[in-house]
Amino acid sequence: MDHARVAISTDVERARISRHLYGHFAEHLGRCIYGGFWVGEDSDLPHIDGIRADVVEALRRLEVPNLRWPGGCFADEYHWRDGIGPREDRPAMVNSHWGDVVEDNSFGTHEFMRLCELLGAAPYVNGNLGSGTVREMSEWLEYLTRADDSPMARLRRDNGRDEPWLVPFWGLGNEAWGCGGSMRPQAYADEARRYATFCKDHGGNTVSRIAAGGADDDLSWTRALMEAVACVNCQTSPDSPIFQGVSFHYYTYASQGINTESATEFSTTDYLRTMLRATGIERAIRAHVAVMDSYDPDGKVALVCDEWGTWWQPEPGTNPGFLHQQNTMRDALVAGVHFDAFHAHARRLRMANIAQTVNVLQAMLLTGDDGALVLTPTYHVFEMSKGHQDATSVESAVTAAPVIDVEGTPLGALSASASVKDGALLVSLSHLDPDDSLDVVLDVRGATITGTTARVLASGSLTAHNTAAEPHVVAPRELDVNVDGALVRVTMPPHSFATVHVTLD
Ligand code: AHR
Repeated sequence: MDHARVAISTDVERARISRHLYGHFAEHLGRCIYGGFWVGEDSDLPHIDGIRADVVEALRRLEVPNLRWPGGCFADEYHWRDGIGPREDRPAMVNSHWGDVVEDNSFGTHEFMRLCELLGAAPYVNGNLGSGTVREMSEWLEYLTRADDSPMARLRRDNGRDEPWLVPFWGLGNEAWGCGGSMRPQAYADEARRYATFCKDHGGNTVSRIAAGGADDDLSWTRALMEAVACVNCQTSPDSPIFQGVSFHYYTYASQGINTESATEFSTTDYLRTMLRATGIERAIRAHVAVMDSYDPDGKVALVCDEWGTWWQPEPGTNPGFLHQQNTMRDALVAGVHFDAFHAHARRLRMANIAQTVNVLQAMLLTGDDGALVLTPTYHVFEMSKGHQDATSVESAVTAAPVIDVEGTPLGALSASASVKDGALLVSLSHLDPDDSLDVVLDVRGATITGTTARVLASGSLTAHNTAAEPHVVAPRELDVNVDGALVRVTMPPHSFATVHVTLD
């Protein structure tokens, strides 16, 4: 058995972990909205106003803080007026990015806001900058958030909603370098400034405008957007930034790139390569943060990772444009190491959205039209980690742990992070070694331990996953904990994720 040690200083606080780091993403893509969330009011499946009831119930257990919608690439071809009013009158459109299918717009603004209400999630609406207009985007925000008798508020009332909604997060397009308009960074930065100018705060609604940035560690977008925030000849200044957030996207695969490798059939080497890629998000975040710090040392503009997760080949027999993939213990560990990186950079990184919530990419839930509902291993990591939401991250360091040699590149066998909230410490541990167990000692300093509990998510094989026929193959269970003074000891199985909850005095 290998050994590892983690030193945790409960009294050395780093930053508040925004609950929005645990955000989600739901695009009009494949079976995420239609057949995932939305079954329609005539469905035989239990639903609330057309939204699947068991999906809502399962997601409520995750305490979903925010939900990004309607895309993704779809956002930049979506025209919100097509998705309001009586459903039978709504015009159809072609969803050109995702399966080239006809979208009937039966799930639109009111349905999305109802979904957010049911989940208790804050809406993160992504506006259409790529093929829309400034006026269209500006009026959507007015429609959603204005209380008085303005034209858009009146239109909303005509469609059955009297009170305005609160919309705290607003995206200014998506992936402008690609599906969002094939722009160059400076051109998009100017466009985003123009659009942001007309995305107003109405009444009591204060919106954070999030500019769409680059992918991975492409810093040219972050730099251009921070230049646009700092613009010396503009009326706005970094003290009152024109964007409150700058985003980037980071997808994980083994070695061949997105959309190319099987979700369930992979070798140990593929798994280790995946872990190298996943842990690499920490370096990418650090690089974006360094650029932002140089323009905005006070941290007024948030870094937002509004798409992250694994992107495997679609499941055989499914529409390749629907991005439907299975989810194994490997995906669970990808989530575990992402959260450690998010916690480490919580000062600047204040929102993140996994792609995507139901039936698409690294989903929480897989649904069947027959009523099946599968909780994926990734779901369990989100559930086990929810105590970090709005906690304070504290100093934690893996001071000793085995190192795995992945084709010449070192990979630490243990990734960890810790936070305190309400007199308790929560520690997350991702044990990445595919073969050996790990004896982990937590050296808890700065407080006295009064109690401990722990849970582990583990599986006999790396490729283990849940299906409708076998839904509990990968599920959390209690883990034995031993306490000796300030030392907390757990034994982690190979390739496992654990959380340790420690009450403190
Ligand atoms: O999440 C799937 C797609 O990935 C999104 O639509 C797009 O933004 C990204 O390329």
